[in-house]
Amino acid sequence: MQGVVAVILAAGKGTRMKSRLPKVLHQVAGKPMVRHVLEAVQSLGINQQILVIGHEAELVKAALGEQVRYAIQAEQLGTGHAVMQAQPLIGEEIKTVLVLCGDTPLLRAETLAILLAEHQQTGAAATVLTANLTDPSGYGRIIRDAQGLVERIVEEKDASAEEKRVQEINTGTYCFDKVALFKALGEISPANAQGEYYLTDVLSVLRGAGQKVGAVVAADPRETYGINSRVQLAEAEKILRYRKLVRLMEAGVTIIDPATTFIDDEVEIEPDTIIYPNTIIERGTRIGCECVIGPGTRIVESRIGNRVEIQNSVLLKSLVGDECTIGPFAYLRPGTELAGKNRVGDFVEIKNSKVGEGSKIPHLAYVGDATVGRNVNIGCGTITCNYDGVRKWPTRIGDGAFIGSNTNLVAPVEIGANAVTGAGSTITKDVPADSLAVERSRQTVIRDWVKKKRTDRSAQHD
Ligand code: UD1
Ligand code: CA
Repeated sequence: MQGVVAVILAAGKGTRMKSRLPKVLHQVAGKPMVRHVLEAVQSLGINQQILVIGHEAELVKAALGEQVRYAIQAEQLGTGHAVMQAQPLIGEEIKTVLVLCGDTPLLRAETLAILLAEHQQTGAAATVLTANLTDPSGYGRIIRDAQGLVERIVEEKDASAEEKRVQEINTGTYCFDKVALFKALGEISPANAQGEYYLTDVLSVLRGAGQKVGAVVAADPRETYGINSRVQLAEAEKILRYRKLVRLMEAGVTIIDPATTFIDDEVEIEPDTIIYPNTIIERGTRIGCECVIGPGTRIVESRIGNRVEIQNSVLLKSLVGDECTIGPFAYLRPGTELAGKNRVGDFVEIKNSKVGEGSKIPHLAYVGDATVGRNVNIGCGTITCNYDGVRKWPTRIGDGAFIGSNTNLVAPVEIGANAVTGAGSTITKDVPADSLAVERSRQTVIRDWVKKKRTDRSAQHD
């Protein structure tokens, strides 16, 4: 969008959050709240964005990177003062300044588009986005004149009892004509309850100068929530998560219980996958079609293929090929790669290992730093002893191998293709292909040992 710059205010500390982290970096739906604002702006095609930062500026910069320009507000003297700091970064070609707060993560791009269109159509010097709230407490109130036009905004701390009853609030989102904005900012003063330069005072300055001030009322007031406290953060989280679930359901994903399903904004899921309750899917995970996920599953930064079933399991940074069955109670740690058609059963932990197609690890096993071929069966209780107390060593298992139950594979070690290890063996040397390796002492049977023991004992008691 030509001629428009977005200025996002994010310099405040967010005292009411009671946090060491600056407010705008608190996460909602898996992303810092200011990133939601930024993405709404970007999706409108507004390519020029200026973020006004101050409190913990370096942390905010580190979180958002080089995609935006930064204006520093060294001292937080109010929202009007914050906008002034952006002025030197705004070019000649800019006509319209869209001002947003970094703490309104629920605002949708569609609503911003309506605001911009109205501003451009009416040719107003300022157009403010307002909302009607049943509980307006904490927000600036919109004071309209007898004709119903916006006259000024009064902050709650400066409002009279009558003004406090007004339910139309300032969302903190505005479009301004650039020249009119900076001229008016030069005229505002901090003579108010908080001793701050209020951006909201620009509106009455403009009206006083005979300029046109317009307003757009947001259709859905929930979009405009400003997050000032942890309670409001949790409310925003709920709304954003539900929006994500609705998008997924509309795209063909079944969510059995939206109330207990948590899916981050950037997660992608293909149609006909079913998500069972108590499932958390985070940070850029991608899931294919016709999967059954959950109940009770957490998946972070992973890729899951098609027709995969996962129940009561935790998967971190893992790749899972098509038609795998995982869990219940499996733990796939970072670097796990299952090629496809694998069975990973209960109480199995896999870490930094590649498992070939069709291989099975059905129960009670630890597989770490291993390369497992195709169609391998890893028996119950098998452990790769990959750590000698100093460093980690690899285990290799060839195609078609059969690892007997309760085998210890002391790494580094290699089991050849189609080789077999006897149950209970501790394997410390490589096993050639097609061989059997057994490592355990011969079984001794002492006949009638129990009977004899019993007779001895009763003799003692006589
Ligand atoms: C502000 C508005 C209020 C509106 C509400 C909407 C003013 C004076 N008040 O109040 O009318 O209803 O937002 O949510 O504008 N910030 C800075 N520098 C500063 C002060 C604030 O960058 O010196 C940033 C904050 O980081 C925050 C945003 O501006 O992202 C809003 O500040 P906040 O203190 O939350 O304002 P409110 O009291 O909520
Ligand atoms: Ca606020």
